[in-house]
Amino acid sequence: MHSRRAILYMPGDDRRKIEKAATLGVDSICMDLEDGTAINRKAEARAVIAQAMRELDFGDSERCIRINSIGSGWEADDLAAALEARPDSIAVPKVESPEQVTWVSSRIESYELSHGLPLGGIRMIILVETARGILNLKEIAGSDKRLDAIIFGGEDFAASVGATRTKDALELLYARESVVTACAAYDLQAIDIVTIDFKDLDALRAESEAGARLGFTGKQIIHPAQVGPVQAAFTPSNEAIAYARRVVETFEANQKEGKGAYALDGKMIDMPLLKNAQKVLDRAQAAGK
Ligand code: COA
Ligand code: MG
Repeated sequence: MHSRRAILYMPGDDRRKIEKAATLGVDSICMDLEDGTAINRKAEARAVIAQAMRELDFGDSERCIRINSIGSGWEADDLAAALEARPDSIAVPKVESPEQVTWVSSRIESYELSHGLPLGGIRMIILVETARGILNLKEIAGSDKRLDAIIFGGEDFAASVGATRTKDALELLYARESVVTACAAYDLQAIDIVTIDFKDLDALRAESEAGARLGFTGKQIIHPAQVGPVQAAFTPSNEAIAYARRVVETFEANQKEGKGAYALDGKMIDMPLLKNAQKVLDRAQAAGK
């Protein structure tokens, strides 16, 4: 799976920002046809993205295109145009049912089949960001093999339930944990909320670390200054990696001696802590560490 510690959005009609994004070393670049693009610029944005995809070198960054939501009236034209640009993945916003996932996936499959492309090569990322979406997560998360990640959209969710956004995001906690849980159950990446106050990098760091502690594997971002802090927050630290290695090593040794639980640095270690240590090492590896 492509690493997605940070997914950077930019309006699809903004060539300058797409060019800039390609130079930042960000894990994933999401060229947006949805809310980042004005209603009267959708066709222009499709054309700008297509040209940028032909002309630019995106390096190791994933090239993702976000279409408009199913039912918006733009989704079919967006998807057709996006597929012609041969992206690495398609992002679908405001997903509320498994049928919406399979609707997109089957269209991608038809495209792959008719163009001799490897089946399942174009990946899918979905946004779950409404009350209905959160309620239907169980069915949505396991609905299609093409699915790599679920993004939680905090601002849309707050609007959907009538919550007031706050700095500590307590009003989003239930939905954030629901997304993390559904993703863990189906081996998907879980991508956290945007910090819209892009000038406040301390707030960004705090929110990123809080998301990582909840179990998110990455975060959506909207500005170049957010790339470094966010990718760092979703990369396990050297100390965390060293500790995880010690847990794995000592666990094996203790198992051989017939001990399921033992003490390490004054703390009890047993199977769940081993699994958690393994997750840290998996994430370190995914981040190229
Ligand atoms: N991707 C790539 N480059 C970006 C960028 C982004 N999301 N946001 C800003 N930049 C570039 C600017 O073009 C500028 O580059 P330049 O100096 O070479 O022209 C540089 O970074 C500094 O930008 P800055 O002046 O600080 O920001 P701004 O006032 O131009 O833009 C926003 C602020 C919020 C409008 C802009 O960051 C943005 O469009 N973000 C994405 C919004 C979006 O897609 N929303 C929908 C999904 S949530
Ligand atoms: Mg949104």
